[in-house]
Amino acid sequence: MGSEFIHGITWFLFLVAICAIKAKAISVNVVKFGAKGDGKTDDTKAFTQAWTQACSERQNNKYVIPKGKYIVGPVDFAGPCKAKTIHFKVDGTVQSSKKQSVTGGAHRNAWISFTQVNNLLISGDGIFDGQGSEFNCAKAKQCEQPPLNLIFSMVKDSHIQGITSNNSVGGQIGIYRSRNVTVDDVSIGIRGGEGILIEKSTNINITNTDIKILSDNCVTILDGNTGINIEKMTCSQGNGLGVSVLGNTGKEEPVNGVTVRNCTFSHTEGAIRIQSSAGSTANIAISNLVFEDIIFDYLQNMAIVLDQEHCPSKQCRTPNPSKVKVSNVSFKNIKGNSVDNRIVILECGTAPGACKDIKFSDMRVLVVGDDHLETQFRCKNVKPVVSGKVDPAVCNTRPVA
Ligand SMILES: *[C@@H]1O[C@H](CO)[C@@H](O)[C@H](O)[C@H]1NC(C)=O
Ligand SMILES: *[C@@H]1O[C@H](CO)[C@@H](O)[C@H](O)[C@H]1NC(C)=O
Ligand SMILES: *[C@@H]1O[C@H](CO)[C@@H](O)[C@H](O)[C@H]1NC(C)=O
Ligand SMILES: *[C@@H]1O[C@H](CO)[C@@H](O)[C@H](O)[C@H]1NC(C)=O
Ligand SMILES: *[C@@H]1O[C@H](CO)[C@@H](O)[C@H](O)[C@H]1NC(C)=O
Repeated sequence: MGSEFIHGITWFLFLVAICAIKAKAISVNVVKFGAKGDGKTDDTKAFTQAWTQACSERQNNKYVIPKGKYIVGPVDFAGPCKAKTIHFKVDGTVQSSKKQSVTGGAHRNAWISFTQVNNLLISGDGIFDGQGSEFNCAKAKQCEQPPLNLIFSMVKDSHIQGITSNNSVGGQIGIYRSRNVTVDDVSIGIRGGEGILIEKSTNINITNTDIKILSDNCVTILDGNTGINIEKMTCSQGNGLGVSVLGNTGKEEPVNGVTVRNCTFSHTEGAIRIQSSAGSTANIAISNLVFEDIIFDYLQNMAIVLDQEHCPSKQCRTPNPSKVKVSNVSFKNIKGNSVDNRIVILECGTAPGACKDIKFSDMRVLVVGDDHLETQFRCKNVKPVVSGKVDPAVCNTRPVA
């Protein structure tokens, strides 16, 4: 009896020991795989070999990029991985090579991509520098679709924190077909393409993010997204935020649930745009959008635009109105100023119910500059629901025909 008991305890301790070994994280450092981090040597091979190990060990693994400047070509950090979790710790600067030509990877237009990885935690104060100004278009094989710095594709249950993406060629961060991903405290740098592009994804949370973009959108929300939450974002210069479902193929998927809260748009060309193409054939809805506690600081163009007749080239053949419907959109507690006196422009299509439940409450946007222009709120084929005080007054200006 006694010895059986002791035997039992021994077994128990043995099992505890085995579990402890199993749960132990392995740490994979790119330097151990030969990365130099000297700003000259091409470290691509070390990066991919280290990843293969971090991905294949069935534990809670760590992938470490210590301080230093690592030159790497296109890299796809691909899964599916055996690892339970991967903590991708970046303290160094990861820089694209000057002779960059983006042809490889699961995503032909990514410089760095993470594909089919779950339970990924990226942290650290590292920088991904796409060397946008060094990009040689003639040498690249993909010039019509220049690379984004970072693409997360089919990534689930993951958290991206602290890093910086700078100097992209074709855009900074893309999130495609992903689910339950938080991007927190990330800085997005100046050059090249859009800040964050989100497509066909669910439960994406972007918080405490500072985006400075020269000419494109800070954030673009494309088709097929559900549950997108953007909080405490500062968007400077560039074009603001767009929910853009062009619907040109007719195969686009709906957008359901976008919340943009406690965000500041500073010196941007406009701030919030919801658009679909004139004559769009996709029979889908863009619905349940909330824009709340927003500050406009010195906007340079129309602040809020809902455009169902988007036609940039002016060559749209439009025998039929757009089939994309927009419903249940709230603008609440919006304050600030703009250089442009066209504050709100709602241009809805002629299809029945094209725009429904467009709501404004507590808004005050003033025009700055010497002209003392009257602020405009134009409406076409839509009657917004108003509560609280809304200035400029809803539909105060006749729409242009
Ligand atoms: C979402 O992902 C986080 C890890 O970033 C995880 O802790 C959490 O359980 C996931 N939530 C759901 C609903 O799967
Ligand atoms: C981004 O790149 C620009 C131009 O190379 C540089 O001036 C800036 O300091 C960089 N920002 C960060 C956060 O590295
Ligand atoms: C979004 O992320 C922030 C920061 O990690 C967190 O506090 C918040 O609860 C998340 N919100 C949602 C809706 O997941
Ligand atoms: C979010 O709200 C807090 C409190 O009102 C404010 O201090 C902060 O500047 C806001 N952040 C942004 C990005 O607007
Ligand atoms: C409108 O959208 C908000 C935010 O997603 C949601 O809470 C609300 O239930 C929606 N209202 C209707 C009538 O669907």
